[in-house]
Amino acid sequence: MIVIGFESSCDETGVALVCTERGLLAHSLHSQIAMHEEYGGVVPELASRDHIRRVLPLTREVLQAANVALGDINAVAYTAGPGLAGALLVGASVAQSFAWARGLPAIPIHHLEGHLLSPLLAMPRPDFPFVALLVSGGHTQLMRVDGVGVYELLGETLDDAAGEAFDKTAKLMGLGYPGGPALSNLAQQGDPTAYDLPRPMLHTRDLDFSFSGLKTAVLTRVKGMEKAGGQLSAQQRADLAASTEAAIVDVLAAKSIKAMKQTGLKRLVVAGGVGANRHLRERLVQAMAKLDGEVFFPPLDLCTDNGAMIAFAAAMRVNAGLVDLSDMRHAFTVKPRWDLHDVCLEATAL
Ligand code: KG4
Ligand code: ZN
Repeated sequence: MIVIGFESSCDETGVALVCTERGLLAHSLHSQIAMHEEYGGVVPELASRDHIRRVLPLTREVLQAANVALGDINAVAYTAGPGLAGALLVGASVAQSFAWARGLPAIPIHHLEGHLLSPLLAMPRPDFPFVALLVSGGHTQLMRVDGVGVYELLGETLDDAAGEAFDKTAKLMGLGYPGGPALSNLAQQGDPTAYDLPRPMLHTRDLDFSFSGLKTAVLTRVKGMEKAGGQLSAQQRADLAASTEAAIVDVLAAKSIKAMKQTGLKRLVVAGGVGANRHLRERLVQAMAKLDGEVFFPPLDLCTDNGAMIAFAAAMRVNAGLVDLSDMRHAFTVKPRWDLHDVCLEATAL
């Protein structure tokens, strides 16, 4: 069975084809980073308009790349939330119209479930159960995953997400958007021990995070240094970037290891945009080796938002028998705010 998936929750338009037996057939992506860059962040109205422009050309591209005809498609998946309302509506309405026109079932997918299952797109695939560290621009969560639709929240951020910490710190240092890759690149020339930045909640017993204090600490440093000596030197900027990255990675790694110990599980899966961070990857590989466990990542190009994870999550749901393929109602809504718990099996059964 072939599923086409549409992702349009934020600033990436993604379309993909996944076969429930053979896996990913093709995916195509357009990032709006260049468009939003000059505003220093995502402009929702511009994002929605650009999704409209991109979605059909990208659809043609994946069909061609996979050599699949419209008539070969058996189901249509789309990100129904969480995300920007207008942006979500583009993917949702295209997907639902497509499904209605061709008499196919439409499958709304939770964006975070897409991220959560995306490491299963890589080889070797982790077996269930595993602990997932979900680190994106909007979320930082540790989750126990026992199967498709069986997710238990172990801990989450109380304020900013890890990606937000990267983005906001990068912004106040005058780096580009999105801040994660920019800050991480600059950090390569810096000394991670140069500045002693806070590691919020590092030693708390729970599995929660807090990153907003880190951004304030960096801001205070920058202001203090500017007051003392004018502009920051190139080396000072690199050192500050490296110290910020080290603080974020330290906390993410420490809490992930705590989650492994608390659950007794041996497999850690990392998903979401911050999962592309090289230092985080290296640190987690080392830490999991010490625990005699393994860590799994999505393919690097599928860490940030994409259509493949949406089509794939839908295919996994179909394979797990969680989708009513006979449901041909095409009325729809999007959910800009949506708790992942709502798509869990226990929640569905209630
Ligand atoms: O998962 P994602 O594409 O979008 C959301 O669902 O939020 O994640 C985007 C986030 C941004 O905050 C971005 O700065 C961060 O992921 N990011 C990184 C890296 N690449 C992307 N953060 C640190 N290091 C990276 N290499
Ligand atoms: Zn995302």
